[in-house]
Amino acid sequence: MSAEAEPGAVVRVKGPRGKAMGWALFSDRSQITLRMISREDVPIDEAFWRARLATAIGFRESLGIDATAYRLVHAEADLLPSLIVDRYADRLVLQALSQGMDRLTPVIVPLLMELTGAAGVLARNDPKVRQLEGLEQTVELLAGDVPERIPVREGTVEYDVDPWKGQKTGLFLDQRENREAAARYAHGRVLDAFSYNGGFALSLAPQATTVEAVDISADAVARITANAAKNGRTNVEAREANVFDELRRLERDNQRYDTIVLDPPAFAKSKASIVKAISGYKEINLRALRLLKPGGFLVTCSCSYNVDEAMFAQVIYEASVDSHSPVTVVEKRMQGRDHPVLLGVPETYYLKCLILRKMG
Ligand SMILES: C[S@@+](CC[C@H](N)C(=O)[O-])C[C@H]1O[C@@H](n2cnc3c(N)ncnc32)[C@H](O)[C@@H]1O
Repeated sequence: MSAEAEPGAVVRVKGPRGKAMGWALFSDRSQITLRMISREDVPIDEAFWRARLATAIGFRESLGIDATAYRLVHAEADLLPSLIVDRYADRLVLQALSQGMDRLTPVIVPLLMELTGAAGVLARNDPKVRQLEGLEQTVELLAGDVPERIPVREGTVEYDVDPWKGQKTGLFLDQRENREAAARYAHGRVLDAFSYNGGFALSLAPQATTVEAVDISADAVARITANAAKNGRTNVEAREANVFDELRRLERDNQRYDTIVLDPPAFAKSKASIVKAISGYKEINLRALRLLKPGGFLVTCSCSYNVDEAMFAQVIYEASVDSHSPVTVVEKRMQGRDHPVLLGVPETYYLKCLILRKMG
């Protein structure tokens, strides 16, 4: 690597004795100085990026996804480090999370348009991690047009997605397959805690008597109500509340549920917050298990990369012991297949989802 490399440049990587080791994206700000893009001595040109993108898109096409919204590019796991591309019908939402991908965006966008036939590409470059790269946090139209409301379908559920202002790139696409799985067990009175736009609530509603969807954000609650109406899910009721308070209140009022979903935001955004995060996970799971009837199902998730699978399982076990609720693990799940995990890059495995059955 030359010391004069520009921020975000594609650089040739050489070993200590000058042996060529491939190509990488260089950052002059991040702790991740080099993100490897190829270990081969090949030209890193437009044809290289077209082939990488085509492989990522082709893999999604091969999955037979029953939805019009899904992830097309999952960064390192598609050998396109720090690049996220989500598809919402015929529009794309992109995130370039390193200096290298930021600099390559003008090359990537026309290729994406060509390969997908998309009518527009939006950059949701507002994640905080861009600060670590010395990059601005922006939301901007990169090509064509992208409306504030895009109708999409996930299985039998239709949503209106706002890619400009919605959380993440508009939807929590990583939970699509877990929503499908949860619907296989849901029954009776359902509580969907941390609901966002009602993803679990709407998927579970056909199997449920009633669904109560709770989120702290007024905007999310308005989305749940609108999406429930759009899908004719008349048994879904949304309310604005802090789940920590709400679980306590429901317990005080002696309420009981047959199915509970816990899908909180990442409590551990860094290693420094792991201890606090674990106590948060313990509290919500313990309370949810108390609210659950014997024979009921708890669908419990963590999207904190810093709380790994073993730590999460331990928290759930402790919640089960402390709430005197023996549970069996019915399914151990993760993020959907359109968000693959690259072995050797642990950061690509972040979402854990357990489906548990309360015994008794
Ligand atoms: C991971 S998202 C949920 C995604 C959703 N379950 C889905 O399938 O699309 C987490 C949600 O929790 C909400 N939230 C964060 N803290 C909360 C709290 N203390 N109480 C209630 N909701 C909260 C956020 O507004 C966000 O919508």
